[in-house]
Formats: sequence, C-alpha cells, structure tokens
Amino acid sequence: MENEMRSQNWFGKKGKDGFIYRAWMRNQGIPSHEFQGKPIIGICNTWSELTPCNAHFRDLAESVKRGVLEAGGFPVEFPVMSLGETLMKPTAMLFRNLVSMDVEESIRANPIDGVVLLCGCDKTTPALLMGACSVNIPTIVVSGGPMLTGKYRGRNIGTTDIWRFTDHVRSGLMTEEELNLAEAGMCRSQGHCAVMGTASSMACMVEALGISLPENAAIPAVDSNRKVLAQLSGMRIVEMVKEKLKPSDILTRKAFENAIKVNAAIGGSTNFVIHLLAIAGRIGVPLTIDEFDTLSVNMPLIANLQPSGQYFMEDLYYAGGLPAVMKELAGHLHEDCITANGKTLKANLVSAQGINPDVITGMSTPFKAESGIVVLKGNLCVNGAILKPSAASEHLKKHAGKAVVFENIEDYKNRIDDPELEVDESNVLVLKNVGPKGYPGMPEVGNMGLPKKILARGITDMVRISDGRMSGTGFGTVVLHVSPEAAAGGNFAVVKTGDTIELDIPNRTLNLAVPEDELEARKKAFVSVPSDIARGYAYLYTQHVEQACLGADFDFLKGGSGSVVSRDSH
Ligand code: FES
Repeated sequence: MENEMRSQNWFGKKGKDGFIYRAWMRNQGIPSHEFQGKPIIGICNTWSELTPCNAHFRDLAESVKRGVLEAGGFPVEFPVMSLGETLMKPTAMLFRNLVSMDVEESIRANPIDGVVLLCGCDKTTPALLMGACSVNIPTIVVSGGPMLTGKYRGRNIGTTDIWRFTDHVRSGLMTEEELNLAEAGMCRSQGHCAVMGTASSMACMVEALGISLPENAAIPAVDSNRKVLAQLSGMRIVEMVKEKLKPSDILTRKAFENAIKVNAAIGGSTNFVIHLLAIAGRIGVPLTIDEFDTLSVNMPLIANLQPSGQYFMEDLYYAGGLPAVMKELAGHLHEDCITANGKTLKANLVSAQGINPDVITGMSTPFKAESGIVVLKGNLCVNGAILKPSAASEHLKKHAGKAVVFENIEDYKNRIDDPELEVDESNVLVLKNVGPKGYPGMPEVGNMGLPKKILARGITDMVRISDGRMSGTGFGTVVLHVSPEAAAGGNFAVVKTGDTIELDIPNRTLNLAVPEDELEARKKAFVSVPSDIARGYAYLYTQHVEQACLGADFDFLKGGSGSVVSRDSH
C-alpha cells in the first residue's frame, strides 16, 4: 500500500532502507526534517549550454525552488536530456521520444510527489509533458519564455526572416555581409524563438491546456515577471500535491479541444499537431488528426504574429498575452476546464484584457479570416497530410501541376539549383523519405527553398509536398506530414517526376492524377531501400515509431504506467 505521499515510501521508511534513502540525501548538507513528511517537488530541468533557448534555466529553477520552499515543500532539481533545435543532428525530433522516456522513468523511479517541468526550445515541451503524463503525478509546466525581438538595421526581425534572408542571398538581393549583420541582431537575449514558431506554440499549448499558470506563454525570458511566474508555479505545485490535482484531471478531452482552437487563433505551428496527438496518446484522450481541421475550421486568426503576421511574442505579452486571446475566444472554449491553479478557465479569464488591437484583434475584426490546420486527404495521403492555410499563397490554394520529385534530402540539395533542372513555378516540388521512419526522425525540411532560377524571377512560393515537417517559423503553400510516408509504402512512395498532382485546399483534397491500376503496378514493382541502421537508439526508433498522423510516438509508449513502483532492490 502506497503512503499518502509517495516520497514517504522512501524517506518515511524505518530500518536499513530508510537509513540509506535519508543518509545519502544528508550528504548534500540537508537535515532530514527538510525532506521528511514534506511534498518533494522535482524540478525537471532541460538546462544545457547546447540548448541556447534553455540556457537560463538554472536561474529559473532557483525561482521555482524559492516558491516550493515558501509553500512548505522541498525542491529537488534533476536533469534530463535536453533538445537544442539548432545544434542537434540529424534532427532534434529524433530524440523527442527518448527524452520522454528519460522524463517518465526519472519521475517514477525517484521520491517525487509533484513535478515542475522547465520547458523551452521546441521539443523540450512535448517531450517533458509526454513523459509526465505517463506517470500522472501532479505536474505544472514553466516555460522559459521568448527572446526579445531581433533587430536588423532598424527593422524588427525573428526566426522567420532566416528563410527570407537566405533566399535573398541566393537570389542576390542581400550580401553575405548583410546576412552577418542580421545574424548578430537576431538573438538579442535569453529565451526561445520570438515568433509564433513551435516553441511559442508549445508554450501557448500548455497554457491553453491549463497545465501551466495563466500568462505562462508570452512573458519574455528576460522580463522579471518570468521569474515571478516561476516562483508562483513553485508555490502552486506544492498545493497541487496536497489537492492531488493530476495531469489526468486537467488534460481532459475538453482541454485538448481548447488547445486546438487556441492554436488556430494564434496561427500556431504545424508541429503542434504531431505533439498534441502524442500527448493525447499518453494521457489516454482519444484524438484524431481530422479533428485539428474540424475543430478549427471556423476559427479566425486573431493574433497578428509572425510567421502569419507582423508582430512578436514580446508584443503579444504587452498586448495582454494569451489570456487576452482566450478571452476573445471565450464563447468557443470550454470554460469549465480546471487548470493548474485550481480555478476554471472562466475564472482565470475574468481580468484578462486585450490592450492593443493591432496585435490581438477582436473576433469580429480578425487579422485573417482563415486559420488553423487544414487536413488533406486523397490518394496521395490516405491517412492525411496537413497544411497551414494562413501561411499559404492565395493563388496556390487550388492548384494542379506536374511533380518534380526528389527522392531524399540529399537528392534535393544536389539538384535544386542545377540550371538544367526542368522546373517552373507551376510545378509541384515533392520531397520523399523525410518522414519519421524514412529519414529517420522527420526533420524540418518540408518548406524546401525554391530553385535559384525561380527565386531570381521574384517568385516566392510554389506548392511543396513532403512526408517531413516544417519549422514553425516557416511559411508557404507547404503540404506536410504525408501519411503513409514514402518509407512506409503507399502512393507517396511511387510518385514520379511528371505526374500531375492536384491540390484543393478548400475541398481538403490532395490527389495524384494517375490511374489506379498504374499506381498498383508501380507499388508492386516498388523496392524499398533497406535501412542501414542496425543498432542503438536510431534502430529502436525506426522499429517502433508510428506515422505522423498518430503523433510519431513509439507504439510501446502509448498510455502510461502510473507512479507506483512495486519492487524495491534495497
Ligand atoms: Fe529553440 Fe527556436 S531554436 S525555440
């Protein structure tokens, strides 16, 4: 029988076991009354100097600790593998599921009653939340906050400009020297990317789900209020332990519906889809890819933020933050959802107020009428593919064009700027084998750059289709997450250069205009390239990763194993 607080199964024990558990904690100079009988709060830290977006987390953890101590708990900080989006090869996404396992096992194996997840850079949020959901002890998320807005020659810049600037250099509109100047002004402070990319979308996601305190999403990393929020979260997790308020109480089906609608209204990242599906799978809430479309279909874009709009996360905070956005959406949200502070969403939004209509517009005067995620179906993506309509070009929303196929990312890199490549803006660029199994790890290459010769003519968008992902900061008429991916067989594996592809966003279809018998013949003749990955984590990944339409989690990680550890080696 488990004790009232699970940490007492360690520190409350008598005899040899209790001696060992307590004595080694005391070697840190901690008297036993500090951790006996008090809620032990784990602070799960993704600090790393190799994850620049999370490099300020040791400082942030100190604020959490102050809050935990103030509320009568005992904080213990522990590291987990960190995922730095910019530095990790071949792609940080390959390791999301690995980190979720690290988090799950670290929480369960240790004398922890509640946990604070310190999340920032893109994958750290879903990875930590997935792991915590599979244990289901009281949990609160503290995000690291966005960087200050970047500056270049008097202009505001953010991560989205990387794609523009590098295209400008390729087309001769910008010099390397100017690019260096932009590089120096891009990341002006601690924090994660300052646009509504994946990290910001994830920070908004946890706030919309109710698993963080209100205001978590937008406070800049270097604003003193970020530390205040961290301290308040430290205080609150102690109360959550006493109230036994678990993720499963907060992360209900209604909370997931709220998160989908909020992501639409803010123009959130396409990566939101894959991560939310994985989190839902862990906490046991049924959710399908189609619902990202049906739940957001009439949701306008009311946050004017890059990459779909003009402003940055800092501006969102000054304009009232995510609570102001959610207040605008109130009639569309389930306001009875319980959140981490123990109050309903409705109660949390009472004092929320939008104070800059340029940044947060009203529902009746949206920044863009169309938002959310479009889920496409058709013979090219039987199980679905996604597209962000607010980032797509109007004239390409219904388009038929001949495919120019790249078999993998290396093939694309080798040929895209070849002057002999037969391509014009009416073509559809197709990139295969960048899916979960095929790459492996599903990198963010879906918004592949256009051929140099097309850019030089001032063309900035073409229809692009892949089984990979796109950075949340990317834009364009880009179809992503094609399922089944090329490496899993299916029609996407057998698309050939010259085939006609028909994209119809209003009608949610993506089809290959090739007769069915021809497709069947191609699939019969198709020989997949055997993987050369025979060991290690990457092998485990290729054997067990599910398709993007299911969240790309491992098949054996669905659900959870709870918090009870029935065996004890001491
Ligand atoms: Fe970390 Fe963008 S690179 S959030």
